[in-house]
Amino acid sequence: MTKYVINGGNPINGEVEISGAKNAAVAIIPAALMVDGVCRIENLPQISDVTTLLSILKEMGADIRAVNKRTVDIDCTRVKTMRATFDTVRRIRASYYLIGALLGRFGNAYVTMPGGCNFGGMRPIDQHVKGFTAMGANVSVKNGVVSAETDKVLRGATIYLDVVSVGATINLMLGAALAEGNTYIENAAKEPHIVDLANFLNSMGADIRGAGTYSIKIRGVRRMSGGSYSIIPDQIEAGTYLAAVAGAGGRIVLRDVIPKHLEGISSKLREMGVTVVDLEDSIIAQRTDPLLKTHIKTMPYPGFPTDMQPQISTVLCLANGISTVTEGVWDNRFRYVDELAKMGSLIRVSGRTAIIEGVSNLTGASLKASDLRAGAALVIAGICARGETTIEGVSYIERGYEKMIQKLSALGVDIKAIYTPDEPHLEEQEAV
Ligand code: EPZ
Repeated sequence: MTKYVINGGNPINGEVEISGAKNAAVAIIPAALMVDGVCRIENLPQISDVTTLLSILKEMGADIRAVNKRTVDIDCTRVKTMRATFDTVRRIRASYYLIGALLGRFGNAYVTMPGGCNFGGMRPIDQHVKGFTAMGANVSVKNGVVSAETDKVLRGATIYLDVVSVGATINLMLGAALAEGNTYIENAAKEPHIVDLANFLNSMGADIRGAGTYSIKIRGVRRMSGGSYSIIPDQIEAGTYLAAVAGAGGRIVLRDVIPKHLEGISSKLREMGVTVVDLEDSIIAQRTDPLLKTHIKTMPYPGFPTDMQPQISTVLCLANGISTVTEGVWDNRFRYVDELAKMGSLIRVSGRTAIIEGVSNLTGASLKASDLRAGAALVIAGICARGETTIEGVSYIERGYEKMIQKLSALGVDIKAIYTPDEPHLEEQEAV
């Protein structure tokens, strides 16, 4: 069994470099399928979701060459298959971007339904299906495989999303990039990784305007050719380290960030008594005074991100007074609360709201991560708690956080990973 072991209870201090954004990388890698020629993708995070997606593309026939640890050249010219129906595809949520990419390139796609982080029960894809159907595809699901077929190519359409969906916005943008005619995505999601994907596609020859607003216009082009592109920094990874210093106290500097992308998180931390100073591409965060209670509701960007909800709720366990955190995106993302209770936290969940009564300290315990961000939250709890905390289920964490152990060690956290031979550490796995 792989575990992280943390001896917590001390402030953290030092610098941490933020890696490329996971949720941009997992959209941009499938997008490479649509490009004729070599795409060089830089600033890829070294995380298992990226490794998995690269291995999926390789299995489909892509030529993938690692230039260095963070840069790969992907050439999908020789990919002839419209099928991604092998087992690896199920391992990662973002596999559904293969539907948009294959539909755009070939007019047909057959993709196994993805798995990925499991919270809130089912994670529907009806908005993706609605969009592709409006663009002329026949979409059906049989035996766990999504089949999307057109006569020849997708045709541009106007699509009004019923819910603000990051995944549907990305998938439809992918399909529309090589469609015939214009596509308009209304009520689109505005997350930084949506803008990053649009910038990637445009740099390869696509014609996409309005990404980052509610209304995206995509003029379909006949082909996209190669180029090179560098992925934006991961605002959720950065936010996670900010939450860690908020909880533990101390002073840290985040390097290689876009402070603007973190405004929703930084402004809440300031309300909680944390000093957060934005510089051009770094952030200084310090907490010396007691933490103050606050009230948070997660929302699509630029609101407070759902992917920071478990981490911030954990920190609020140590604030003065009663805080509330309402989950506004997912039906149920509070499974980590039972784990925090083992450490002495006082959280009651009522519907979509966690009511958190601050305590003066947490105590180390044996915990189990249930998804990626829940895992990150438990690590923060372990850093703040007195005594030893062990965390199982760390493969979830390694799906989305690059070298968390090394980064936290550099901040003075007493943390180590205990790996067993039957569960290889990410670094021992093949790079591509
Ligand atoms: C993306 O998931 C992220 N994943 C998630 O991050 C993140 O929590 C989520 O966006 C919201 O920000 C990736 O980018 C790979 P959605 P996605 O479609 O695209 C409903 C992490 O921790 N919905 O924006 O799957 C849905 O049920 C991961 O890094 C529909 O009803 O999320 C949810 O309530 C976990 N029908 C809401 O919309 C649909 O067809 C937002 O989901 C699609 C979504």
